[in-house]
Amino acid sequence: MSGNSYGELFNITTFGESHGEALGVIVDGCPAGIPLCEADIQKDLDKRKPGQGLAGTKRSESDTIKILSGVFEGKTTGTPIALVTFNENQKSQDYNDIKNVFRPGHADFTYHMKYDGNRDYRGGGRSSARETLARVAGGAIAKKILAKEGIKINGYVKSIGNVAVNEDNFNQKDIEKVYENELRCPDKNAIIKMEKELKNAIINQDSVGGVVEVIAKNMLVGLGEPVYDKLSAEIGKAMLSINATKGVEIGEGFAGTKMRGSIHNDAMQVKNGKIKFLSNHAGGIVGGISTGEDVVVRVAFKPLSSIAKEQNTITKDLKNTKIKVVGRHDVCVCPRAVPVVEAMLAIVLVNALMQQKARQF
Ligand SMILES: Cc1cc2nc3c(=O)[nH]c(=O)nc-3n(C[C@H](O)[C@H](O)[C@H](O)COP(=O)(O)O)c2cc1C
Repeated sequence: MSGNSYGELFNITTFGESHGEALGVIVDGCPAGIPLCEADIQKDLDKRKPGQGLAGTKRSESDTIKILSGVFEGKTTGTPIALVTFNENQKSQDYNDIKNVFRPGHADFTYHMKYDGNRDYRGGGRSSARETLARVAGGAIAKKILAKEGIKINGYVKSIGNVAVNEDNFNQKDIEKVYENELRCPDKNAIIKMEKELKNAIINQDSVGGVVEVIAKNMLVGLGEPVYDKLSAEIGKAMLSINATKGVEIGEGFAGTKMRGSIHNDAMQVKNGKIKFLSNHAGGIVGGISTGEDVVVRVAFKPLSSIAKEQNTITKDLKNTKIKVVGRHDVCVCPRAVPVVEAMLAIVLVNALMQQKARQF
């Protein structure tokens, strides 16, 4: 009911605030016997860490993860896995200005109203995207379970502002290597233009949005539960629960509305006894159930709220005022959101996989 947990069979419950003592996650439902150490989780957390690149906040945190329970002699025990990281680089004084003033586009106003004024305003408290660190930690475990079935998940930045990748300029191998560049983008030409877009936003004391695409490869057929728990519905919920998301597309998504059925339908063939789809406009899901083709999802991120440009707003005691948000904020969320989107898809797919295995029992 309180909205801090996701997943039925593989469940994550996250806790902590941006400038509180610690942030963490309880992962319940992980099978026993999976090799797991802190380094397995840390490598994903390092991809989300603040302080990297032109788009990111200059807040520098090591985000070092500690396993508190659920792992013994290097393997999961089937009991709840508690993971925690202690906050290090809080500059809460940066946030004194927003103690009594609501940042337009941030969750200050809605949290204030919902919780009768009881809100940790420092760094956005619980509404801060530091919470996504806990999702990435849980997702690292989900990815290990999926890897046992051969399922692999890779995300990348598809667009920043008006600059999008050109799909002719890269291949799957480039997507697998996106963490080698700070924009997490597989198209070298687009990176140059994206950097210009970011510099322009910085000069104008503004922020910029974008799109992250994530692909699950080597999928199994049959994941997803009709009718209300369709795989697509679960993906939609999981992605829209990430901070700053404003839209989710699967396969052709909204572009599909401009296609004819004769093009959008993924024609089928049998070749050497094997089922083959001749295209994947559906993004790997039909009837809410995976087809075995790649699951392809795109997530739209808005331009972030915290900008240094002056804006109109109001105070807690209902006075008109102006605000310039200073402090260390991301200019574009997309590069740091890539591992978060990957983690949420992994958690959705692990749940769908476990449900399907339970059905086959
Ligand atoms: C990885 C990540 C980093 C973010 N960093 C910032 C930030 O530096 N400044 C900011 O205003 N919002 C940031 N956000 C977005 C806010 O957390 C979000 O806009 C806010 O909680 C309001 O919620 P909503 O945009 O989902 O409606 C970030 C989001 C993500 C996913």
